[in-house]
Parts: sequence; C-alpha cells; structure tokens
Amino acid sequence: MEPVEINAGRYYLRQLRADDRIDDRPSILEAFTDPISLRWISHRITDLAGAGDYVAMRARQWADDERCSWAVADQNTGELLGEVGLKDLNLDAGFAAAACWAAPRHRNRGVVSDGLAAALRFGAGALGLTRVEYLFQDGNESSRRVAEKCGFAYDRTVDQCGAKVHVWTRSLV
Ligand SMILES: CC(C)(COP(=O)(O)OP(=O)(O)OC[C@H]1O[C@@H](n2cnc3c(N)ncnc32)[C@H](O)[C@@H]1OP(=O)(O)O)[C@@H](O)C(=O)NCCC(=O)NCCS
Repeated sequence: MEPVEINAGRYYLRQLRADDRIDDRPSILEAFTDPISLRWISHRITDLAGAGDYVAMRARQWADDERCSWAVADQNTGELLGEVGLKDLNLDAGFAAAACWAAPRHRNRGVVSDGLAAALRFGAGALGLTRVEYLFQDGNESSRRVAEKCGFAYDRTVDQCGAKVHVWTRSLV
C-alpha cells in the first residue's frame, strides 16, 4: 500500500517523516524516552539513529501491507503530536489491532482519540476491516479511556509475559 493522508478535523494524519522538510525523529526520540512511555511501551528508542530506523520501519510496513501508521500532525505546522496505527493487518480476515502514543507535551487534548477515530474510519471504509482490537496493560488508565472514547468494549483479559493485558474490541460493520 502507498501511505495515505487523512483529514482528522483538528489534526491530519500523515506518514512518519525524516526528510529535509519534516523531521519527526526528535519528537519520536522525546516520546520514547519519556517515563510514562517507558512504562507502557516495550519498543525502545534511545537516539536519533534509532528514531530514523523507526521511521524507515514504518515505511516498510506500509509497503508490505503489514501496518498502516500515521503521525497525528498539527494542521498548521505539520508537527508530529502522536502516532496511531492499524497493526497486525489481516486484510483477508478484515482484522487489525490498534496502536498509539502521544507526545508527552500534547497528551490529554484528544490527539490520539481523534487520530485513532479517523484511522478506524479509514480501516472500515478503505480497507474493509470488520473487527479491530485495542490492547492495554492493567493500570494504563488514559489508554483505557482512549479505547472507551473510540468505541471499543471489553472482551477479555490475558497474561502477556507476566503482565495483565486487557483486550477490547470494536466491530466496524
Ligand atoms: C495513552 C495515550 C496514548 C493517550 O493519548 P492522548 O492523546 O493523551 O489521548 P486523549 O487525549 O485522546 O485521551 C486521553 C483520555 O484519558 C484521560 N486520562 C488521562 N489520565 C487519566 C487517568 N489517570 N485516569 C483516567 N483517565 C485519564 C484524559 O482525561 C482523556 O480523557 P477525556 O478526553 O475524557 O478527558 C498517551 O497518554 C500515551 O502516549 N501514553 C504513553 C504510551 C501509551 O500508553 N500508549 C498506549 C499503549 S496501549
């Protein structure tokens, strides 16, 4: 798939970028070294080169139909405020899992819930997804709230490497 841009009202969704016009790497590095992200996200990025690898990985995943991922960006400046994605894509089964984080300075302003809602509309309308899962660890209350705001409902709780993980699902049909 080619990366797609989406208008999300107050924000717009675009591919992650590291080029001469827009460089998301410093914001990615800042987000992944923040203590709250370190608590809830297992992926580690410790320097700008790692952030560059991350941008390249997301581009590859678009090309391989593996994951659609978007920077949730400011409409005026293009600044990356967070990231939303549809991962574990199975287009035949109409399935994906949601993924998200927000830059520390931009949390609790609807960046992720507005961004994810737009990604879900794209998933249903353009990709034909019928079911999406949203997983979060026990205690991650802001993530639980995002799931709620985006229309997911509790399905089950599983153990992942000793951590209690709640699985919420949403039907898109
Ligand atoms: C979870 C996260 C992605 C949310 O992004 P965000 O852009 O701040 O989300 P939104 O602003 O759309 O919504 C956050 C909601 O959580 C609420 N919230 C924040 N802290 C909360 C808490 N301790 N208890 C309950 N609700 C809380 C906010 O008030 C807001 O709800 P509201 O709009 O009803 O007021 C962000 O906090 C983050 O990046 N966390 C670290 C990484 C992470 O946990 N990623 C998700 C892994 S599953």
